[in-house]
Amino acid sequence: MSLTIVILAAGQGTRMKSARPKVIHELAGKPMLQHVVDCSRELDPGQIIVVTGHAAGQVHAAMQGQELMYVEQAEQLGTGHALAQCLDTIEPGNDVLVLFGDVPLIQAETLAQIINAADDAAVRILSFIPENPFGYGRVVRQADESVCAIVEHKDANPEQLDIGECFSGIMSIRGDRLQQLVTALDNHNVQGEYYLTDVVDIAVSNGDRVAAILCADPGEVSGINNQQQLAAVEALYRTRQADALMAQGAKIFDPARIDVRGEIKLGRDVQIDVNCVFEGTISLGDNVRIGANCVIRNTSIGADSVIMPMTSIDEAVIGNGVSIGPFARIRPGTECDDQVKIGNFVETKQARIGKGSKVSHLSYIGDTEMGSAVNIGAGTITCNYDGANKHKTVIGDGVFVGSDTQLVAPVTVESNATIGAGSTITKDAPANRLTVSRAKQVTIDSWSKPVKQPKET
Ligand code: UD1
Ligand code: CA
Repeated sequence: MSLTIVILAAGQGTRMKSARPKVIHELAGKPMLQHVVDCSRELDPGQIIVVTGHAAGQVHAAMQGQELMYVEQAEQLGTGHALAQCLDTIEPGNDVLVLFGDVPLIQAETLAQIINAADDAAVRILSFIPENPFGYGRVVRQADESVCAIVEHKDANPEQLDIGECFSGIMSIRGDRLQQLVTALDNHNVQGEYYLTDVVDIAVSNGDRVAAILCADPGEVSGINNQQQLAAVEALYRTRQADALMAQGAKIFDPARIDVRGEIKLGRDVQIDVNCVFEGTISLGDNVRIGANCVIRNTSIGADSVIMPMTSIDEAVIGNGVSIGPFARIRPGTECDDQVKIGNFVETKQARIGKGSKVSHLSYIGDTEMGSAVNIGAGTITCNYDGANKHKTVIGDGVFVGSDTQLVAPVTVESNATIGAGSTITKDAPANRLTVSRAKQVTIDSWSKPVKQPKET
């Protein structure tokens, strides 16, 4: 017998005021439901069932390519009704852990506490004490402190509204009690819904025990019902990620102004200035410094490299001792060898840039193979596109390209060649020679400055 995890994700999320179902709204760059699924997988359960209903097609599309079992809740008649739809799919006898698609920060270690608790409880709930209990179900205890019910906010009397301990939405139900508890639910309440929370009351009436495990960090079980709560949870997530980086020794200039939407592998003495966004898989070597307002995605940056402010780097491999920016745009397929310098207003794409080469100002380097110790003058453009196809530019070691040059691909500039400034190079330039393609400079002696005509009155 193993564990079945059921994730409830069929609701519309009316309070989000959105055409998209709530559970696919993104938190740190991925659907909130994805966070719950990822956490579930860490527990290695026998089954993961996702209950979908409202705009199910959109939810399935957002979760595409993953092995998930879906159960449809055609009409959203409440959280208890959602679980009831799964009774035929859950492997008989399995213990069930119910998670909510709108409680995305939950951690596997916390769930393990519920699953592995050594008690005879038929139902275990994860409770918490939020700063503001508005909207949450309240955990009602008897005189002997044992849990006897969860009362929804809308159904609670003033005395119950004063209870600080709330239901997180996370509950485990013992396999041998599941059928009996779920089929006993009714919808006799203010919202006319089948509440999952009523299994507590029913279990207790049957003479069973219900255990509440208090979640130490209330942030971890914050529910998201509206845009304000989504932003608040995003802020919690941000802080958590910044804390993790600092715990590994990174200097974060302001932990409230960094967004890590993925994983960062970190060397020693890394410094990250304000307002940087990291997405996907990132690796930052020893002593890497990232300036303010950089966006870095799926990239590795070698030791001692400096990324100056306002730089965007996407799917690139950056070597050691490299300097990039400010205001550089490094696009997918860029590979910079050690000691490369990419300056301001430079765009690169599918470009291999050899050791120590410099592209210092205002250039576009695309579909290019560049050797080492090359100097590319300001305003140089590799013209890689003929309107139909892309072509390659090859630049040998030690080449010097004068400013404002166009290299019309396919073209090769052989090693140690020099290109005169202002050239349009359409044919291969030989090694060790000066190649220039501009017209000779002339001065027109007969020319005179135009004179402004007086206005006719
Ligand atoms: C629920 C709990 C409340 C708890 C809070 C924690 C119930 C009755 N109430 O309230 O005690 O404190 O979560 O955040 O359970 N869903 C379905 N089908 C439905 C209705 C909802 O799949 O018919 C899904 C939603 O998509 C959502 C989750 O269940 O992911 C919770 O639903 P929601 O309506 O947000 O419940 P709350 O009012 O927040
Ligand atoms: Ca909710």
